[in-house]
Amino acid sequence: MTSIDLNQKFIEIFNTTKTPATFFAPGRINLIGEHTDYNGGHVFPASISFGTYALGQKRSDQKFRLYSMNFPQIGIIECDLSSLDYDETHNWANYPKGMLRYLKEAGFEFSNGADILFYGNIPNNAGLSSSASIEMATGVLIEGLYDLEIDRFKMIQIGQKVENDYIGVQSGLMDQFAIGMGRKDYAILLNCNTLEYEYAPLELKDHFILIIYTNKQRSLAGSKYNERRKQCDQSLSDLKSKLSINSLGDLTKKEFEQYKHLIQDKTNQKRAKHVVYENARTLEAFEKLKENDLEAFGKLMNESHKSLQQDYEVTGSELDTIVQAAWEQEGVLGARMTGAGFGGCAIAIVEKERIVDFKNNVNAIYHQSIGYDATFYTATIGDGAKEITEGALK
Ligand code: GLA
Repeated sequence: MTSIDLNQKFIEIFNTTKTPATFFAPGRINLIGEHTDYNGGHVFPASISFGTYALGQKRSDQKFRLYSMNFPQIGIIECDLSSLDYDETHNWANYPKGMLRYLKEAGFEFSNGADILFYGNIPNNAGLSSSASIEMATGVLIEGLYDLEIDRFKMIQIGQKVENDYIGVQSGLMDQFAIGMGRKDYAILLNCNTLEYEYAPLELKDHFILIIYTNKQRSLAGSKYNERRKQCDQSLSDLKSKLSINSLGDLTKKEFEQYKHLIQDKTNQKRAKHVVYENARTLEAFEKLKENDLEAFGKLMNESHKSLQQDYEVTGSELDTIVQAAWEQEGVLGARMTGAGFGGCAIAIVEKERIVDFKNNVNAIYHQSIGYDATFYTATIGDGAKEITEGALK
């Protein structure tokens, strides 16, 4: 899809002659640090070059007309600036609608509506944050079209509020943060407790990061995501009976082992264990990457997957089959699920020269066991959400 194609589509769909402005928000992968964000721990994501394009043009009335090339059968969804409540029949358009509503409520002035066309080249519901991507694309579009200055942190928090309060998924800040703050060729270590962050160059020498999509979609609204969050909250509240901590991310592994008996429920204990150990692994992985010790980094990725499989129980047979198959291949430094789990994508760090064999072998094992193919993408780490100027989109 080129900028000319997208412009053309916009002109056709909205029956206009003016060329729209173009904005882009990436998707993200998370290298390590899973299900730690809503527990005050660390995450280590990076924004990728796949994402959501949003083309827009201001209107002189208060109408918003929203169209997604990914859901052409749904057609144009129309709403008014004065009525931006969640509407189940509006389907995907609830994400941009939620952003419009909370941006407006936060006091950002856009007194008129807009025509907006979205086109996403990340698979939906694949664990690469297609929803945060559309939220942030809407944020930068409104900022650009209406010449607003929206603090990036504020935009990120508004995106999370859309998930939590508008859509009903109690997700953390990681996805919107990675997408809002991403930088080409860098991953970001974020402390979700203090919101301090640090960029680390992703120099993988002779290796690529491969994204492997299980082709099993998952929807967090209907998944066990909120249940996991409750289990963590319960663990924290049990621990607080004796400890003065604010989040599971405050605990070292040693402290956890010393006090885990305070967590009444055995399942909750396992959930909390994952969070505490994963948080420690993430900090270690960040150091290893800085030291250029990719082997050690890969091993930590593998341990992360095992912990998500055995203690947090969010992997499932599709992801486990892919990751296990990846571990068995030559030239693989590490592999793990990425994102929420329950289907979606895995990532693997694979030697460039072995990529072809890797794909063939992993897919053969996957197909044999699951009954259909996986899809492979090479991850390119790109910039965060921004306006695309003429010629930048080829
Ligand atoms: C989803 C959520 C994030 C995070 C991950 C798991 O992507 O949106 O906030 O919790 O799952 O690490």
